[in-house]
Amino acid sequence: MSTTIKWLGHSTFQVNTGGKTILVDPFFNGNPAAQVSAADVEADVIMVTHGHGDHVGDTIEIAGRTNALVISNFEIVTWLQKQGVENAHAMHIGGSHPFDFGTVKLTIAHHGSELPDGSNGGNPTGMVLKTNDGNIYFAGDTGLFYDMKLIGEEHIAVAVLPIGDNFTMGPDDSIKAIKLIDPETVIPAHYNTWPLIAQDADAWATQVTLETSAKPEVLAVGGEFRL
Ligand code: NI
Ligand code: MN
Repeated sequence: MSTTIKWLGHSTFQVNTGGKTILVDPFFNGNPAAQVSAADVEADVIMVTHGHGDHVGDTIEIAGRTNALVISNFEIVTWLQKQGVENAHAMHIGGSHPFDFGTVKLTIAHHGSELPDGSNGGNPTGMVLKTNDGNIYFAGDTGLFYDMKLIGEEHIAVAVLPIGDNFTMGPDDSIKAIKLIDPETVIPAHYNTWPLIAQDADAWATQVTLETSAKPEVLAVGGEFRL
């Protein structure tokens, strides 16, 4: 069975692997880039990288409707449970856990993680999803950090990196990140949602091809990459 990664706009991705549908940072309602609403998506698993509203997104609504398993850091899981989410699995940075669809490992990210109501969302994370078809690294919202080299030692088939700048690393630092991670394929995220994070993804892809050994995969919203 193959693994697919579909971009749903901003930092929201749908991964299908091992017979499961996984949503990463499910932000639909109020997301100018989204083409579907939270009421229309299915999920077996939801992974939340950090507490900001554009990443926790519609987790409570979707989890409530689908009873999807929510995976996030301890502070966010504790907060979600207070909001009525029943099926949740808390992890933290550096920890791995084998699930029936693959293994999830939380990594560091340099960013914030305050929850929408001002609650403490712990430290922000990146997430490595290890599937039978290869390892996918969702960097989450982060600046460039040199320890991405250690994440690369996990053999990353696909790295999903923010390129929007302002809140996260921008295109130039993403090139440095790709060199540290050395993934086979890199997918850009967290750009063009709002004018403040507008980027020319085709120019970025040219830069990736010229300066790194990774293959850039610029997805349209709704577009899919197959591992
Ligand atoms: Ni954020
Ligand atoms: Mn964000």
